[in-house]
Amino acid sequence: MTTAGPAASGAQGASSSQAFLKIERLTKQFDGITAVNSVSVDIARGELFALLGSSGCGKSTLLRMLAGFESPSSGRIVLAGQDITHVPPYRRPINMMFQSYALFPHLTVWENVAFGLRRATPARSDIKERVESLLALVQLSAYAKRKPHQLSGGQQQRVALARSLALQPQLLLLDEPLGALDKKLRETTQLELVNILEQVGVTCVMVTHDQEEAMTMSKRIAVMSEGEFLQIGSPSEVYETPNCRFVADFVGDVNLFEGTLSVDEPDHVIVDTPECRHFVGHGVSGTIGMPLTVAVRPEKMHISRERPEEAFNWVEAEVADIAYLGSHTVYHLKTATGKRIEATVPNTERHQSDAPTWGDKVFASWAKLAIIVLTH
Ligand SMILES: Nc1ncnc2c1ncn2[C@@H]1O[C@H](COP(=O)(O)OP(=O)(O)O)[C@@H](O)[C@H]1O
Ligand SMILES: [Mg+2]
Repeated sequence: MTTAGPAASGAQGASSSQAFLKIERLTKQFDGITAVNSVSVDIARGELFALLGSSGCGKSTLLRMLAGFESPSSGRIVLAGQDITHVPPYRRPINMMFQSYALFPHLTVWENVAFGLRRATPARSDIKERVESLLALVQLSAYAKRKPHQLSGGQQQRVALARSLALQPQLLLLDEPLGALDKKLRETTQLELVNILEQVGVTCVMVTHDQEEAMTMSKRIAVMSEGEFLQIGSPSEVYETPNCRFVADFVGDVNLFEGTLSVDEPDHVIVDTPECRHFVGHGVSGTIGMPLTVAVRPEKMHISRERPEEAFNWVEAEVADIAYLGSHTVYHLKTATGKRIEATVPNTERHQSDAPTWGDKVFASWAKLAIIVLTH
């Protein structure tokens, strides 16, 4: 099996201006509704790319168009320089792994992985060698003789992955790959899966509605809503610089303050909201009075008992709820205007006797660089 080591992926990086998978204005209408609405993106060879969005936003439809199970209403799909928009699924060098792994229950692990190879590769010795290397890759060599029901969910998932990789697809499509696993198992399996995909060097488009999964597993994420790409970026880009309220709210938790632009100076702007004045020291400008939303992530809020000395970027509030989550505590605060604010505090010490409690008056404050200003 050919694997892409660090040297190979470096070389790919150099030529990444040539997209491996080009999706161009791809659209799919089902009588009356537009499931996917003119989406475009270039994906590099070896990239792990995630489609993230809530149920019904068009993720599976887009993936099924890539696989060829659904024909686009308009737009183009180009893979390795070849227009495959109208190529039937079985002629595409693509494999799709479904949420229900669809393993054959009566076949052993070995036979499940060998299944597709039997039709494609006539030589028995080649099949044996290939299956063995795939089982080694997914660390299931010792389980070759078991049936699927004798495996854990995570192991079944790895068998399905080995089977999807058997014919060396150029593009692997994963639809909610870990959807059937419980939370703890998902987290470990996410990293295992990424390691395997990186070892193989296969280009991968995965679908998930789970933002942590998208962030853990992919290099870039397209955040989808109502059939459209709202933002495409690395996990940290979509989290730290979301381009709209939907993305800010969908990827992680966020406090949104709605207000208007009241001061516009070369080096700063001030946004006034009912709760407080927000001093923003970066990259925004506009017309006085225009509506803007100030977004601040909960972990960038500081809670103190003392009134901050600055004139900006803090609000007085009452502790309405406390969720102790072990590694951190989430404070739900309520301001005089009735607005709810979330602030997370890491629990760096085992006993914090002076921590605020229910009903306490506190001050939530944030740095000017913590502010994201959104226009829509
Ligand atoms: N075969 C189909 N016929 C009609 N409508 C469909 C079909 N497949 C999907 N849809 C609709 O397209 C939209 C997007 O669905 P889907 O791609 O499955 O979303 P997601 O995978 O993000 O949950 C939904 O409104 C869904 O009802
Ligand atoms: Mg789906």
